[in-house]
Amino acid sequence: MTKTRAVVRGVGHYLPARVVPNSDFEKTLDTSDEWIRARTGIERRHFAAEDENTSDLALRAAEAALADAGLTAADIDGIVVATSTPDLTFPSTATKVQAALNMTGGFAYDLQAVCAGFVYALANAHAMILSGIAQRVLVIGAETFSRILDMEDRATCVLFGDGAGAVVVEADAQPGGADDRGILSVDLNSDGRYRNILYVDGGVSTTGTAGYLRMEGREVFRHAVEKLAHTAETALERAGLSGDDVDWIVPHQANLRIIKSTAARMGVPMERVVVTVQDHGNTSAASIPLALSVAKAEGKIKPGDLIVTEAIGGGLAWGAVVLRW
Ligand code: ACO
Repeated sequence: MTKTRAVVRGVGHYLPARVVPNSDFEKTLDTSDEWIRARTGIERRHFAAEDENTSDLALRAAEAALADAGLTAADIDGIVVATSTPDLTFPSTATKVQAALNMTGGFAYDLQAVCAGFVYALANAHAMILSGIAQRVLVIGAETFSRILDMEDRATCVLFGDGAGAVVVEADAQPGGADDRGILSVDLNSDGRYRNILYVDGGVSTTGTAGYLRMEGREVFRHAVEKLAHTAETALERAGLSGDDVDWIVPHQANLRIIKSTAARMGVPMERVVVTVQDHGNTSAASIPLALSVAKAEGKIKPGDLIVTEAIGGGLAWGAVVLRW
């Protein structure tokens, strides 16, 4: 008896051309390249051009993922865009991408779980594929966080960047064991009691503005360190696997210290952790597919590798997906 799995068939990413090094913030803020590197691991990030929207970034990443998969938009049943920085309040950024891909069938929608958005969207695609709703889903994480940064708040504006990453997942019949390719397990969590430690101070039905990102960094840090290893280990257990089986942790890229401490708690050495935060900053829902794409391009991730992705962000919302490449 075979089992249907959601297998990654292609991956791609896009980064806006403008690179902003830490030293740029020294010109306007009481901060330093040394402080930012030491506390976060971030060295530079990309910011979108004024006329570049989240959908533009998402489209480029989607095109790259489709090319990597050897597919066209006509082969796709649905698009899920994980974003907290949509082009407009509605319609969804996903429908803009759908139109730009000249895709006239299927469905497209946005999903919002902030930095955990890609993990949630992947879980969503997994569920749709297992239930038979869709055979092939384009899952995109795309953000222009530069648009919601208070550039006078040194504690937040140095942390984030813009970018997009995408994967094509498709239904595939696998033997049905822990050695299968594709998504093997998922763990999703949220706890709205902590919604005030990381939020945006504006919104459609409150202020009528987009607002700016606000964060109690130390509190978010504490929750991240505590919750990320736990969700990753829970997902591994569900797949009948452990940290020893992991070839690559592909974590949400927020802070090198969080990434290191999560890996240490899981007993996974840093040689088996994909780290891109130095080049991208925190790109929220885009960070995991971006890291997957970069790691594949660098020849790190190979077919058959066991990968754990884990993320936490505003909500708080957090989770993990275990998959075999
Ligand atoms: N440059 C220089 N000094 C700064 C800066 C800066 N950019 N930002 C803050 N400081 C100062 C603070 O004002 C504070 O000064 P004080 O002691 O005089 O009050 C001092 O540095 C220490 O501040 P802390 O907030 O305690 O510094 P910490 O070591 O916790 O680092 C940081 C702050 C990097 C934000 C850390 O808390 C963190 O990474 N938290 C996780 C937040 C995160 O990654 N959020 C992303 C979204 S959620 C997610 O994706 C996980």
